[in-house]
Amino acid sequence: MEAIRIPVRTGRPYDILLGRGLLTHAGALIREVQKGQRAFIVCDSNVGPLYAKTVSDSLVRAGYRTVSVFTFPAGEKYKRLETVTHMYTALARNHFDRHDVIVALGGGVTGDMAGFAAATWMRGVDFVQIPTSLLAQVDSSIGGKTGVDIDEGKNMVGAFRQPIRVIADIDTLSTLPQEYVTDGMGEVVKSACIRDRELLELLERDCAFSPDLLTDVVRRCMLVKCRIVENDEHENGERKLLNFGHTLGHALEKHLNYSGISHGCAVAVGMATITAASERQGLSEPGTAVRLCALLKKFGLPTTPPVPLSVYLEAVKADKKCVGGAVDLVVLKRLGEAVVCRVKTEEIDTFLRG
Ligand SMILES: NC(=O)c1ccc[n+]([C@@H]2O[C@H](COP(=O)([O-])OP(=O)(O)OC[C@H]3O[C@@H](n4cnc5c(N)ncnc54)[C@H](O)[C@@H]3O)[C@@H](O)[C@H]2O)c1
Ligand SMILES: [Zn+2]
Repeated sequence: MEAIRIPVRTGRPYDILLGRGLLTHAGALIREVQKGQRAFIVCDSNVGPLYAKTVSDSLVRAGYRTVSVFTFPAGEKYKRLETVTHMYTALARNHFDRHDVIVALGGGVTGDMAGFAAATWMRGVDFVQIPTSLLAQVDSSIGGKTGVDIDEGKNMVGAFRQPIRVIADIDTLSTLPQEYVTDGMGEVVKSACIRDRELLELLERDCAFSPDLLTDVVRRCMLVKCRIVENDEHENGERKLLNFGHTLGHALEKHLNYSGISHGCAVAVGMATITAASERQGLSEPGTAVRLCALLKKFGLPTTPPVPLSVYLEAVKADKKCVGGAVDLVVLKRLGEAVVCRVKTEEIDTFLRG
């Protein structure tokens, strides 16, 4: 086992370990930074049967006296306080205390929810992220945002809590259904667009991803996110760049009641739409939109919305980030370099459609 180590210098620093075959060593890798007696693995009903035993056995080998597995039904609709409440009950029954560790094994839903439980159980306990979806490896496991959904909106209840370690095993992606690979590619293209032109060129050039190449792609995305989060842990400035494609994407997802389009596809449409607009406004280097669209299509991502922009434009203006009569839109100066552009609410129509 050889792991790439990426240090993350947040208020509470930690390492990301990335590589192949890491799951069987997860226990030892957690033990290096955690000395508790009990480990509590959180996973969903798809990931549990595939990987929970491997991780659980490794934790026992590493010396954890009690290792329990909490499994919830897979799906965003279970990213709820109710599921977290069930976790609290299981934690209490296992006599889990402040020195023990919660292990999030799965996609972004698992990571967000287990992280939230870790942030709140006894006012905060250690937690480790073992992301198994592409989206979780390149995005959600890094940065310390945790939380759950409520009827009124996604991720409305949450906390910042950095993990003590992230263990990303590329081999787990081999069982990820294709639709979620495509979805994760939306965030991969986003990372390349905002900060990593070399990654963008690599994505344009290569078609078949060998495990080594995939590792490099994930590593580069992790670095983009880490560097941005390190500079802006609590989202006051630079972290906004990670929202490239997201203001429009979120509005589209919301308009379609979160069931008509996946997040990665909505972000892809958002990136294509905003870049066409910013290019028309003279803010982006000519040719940027065409190149971006070609790349999105290459990975099976859409570039036009299933309903016209005019239909969901109101949802864009209603965005929670639309404060003080203006919205911060992320635009590309060129591929690999993003900037924030403040647009007044009344000028959004002209900006996007003009
Ligand atoms: N915290 C953050 O900064 C952040 C950032 C982006 C997204 N998110 C959140 O992440 C969530 C989306 O993440 P996601 O797409 O990973 O969702 P997910 O956790 O639901 O995983 C997607 C699907 O893939 C399955 N799966 C995961 N890994 C697998 C594997 N290796 N093999 C087989 N199946 C596997 C899951 O069971 C699920 O059905 C959303 O709730 C979103 O709000 C959080
Ligand atoms: Zn996203």
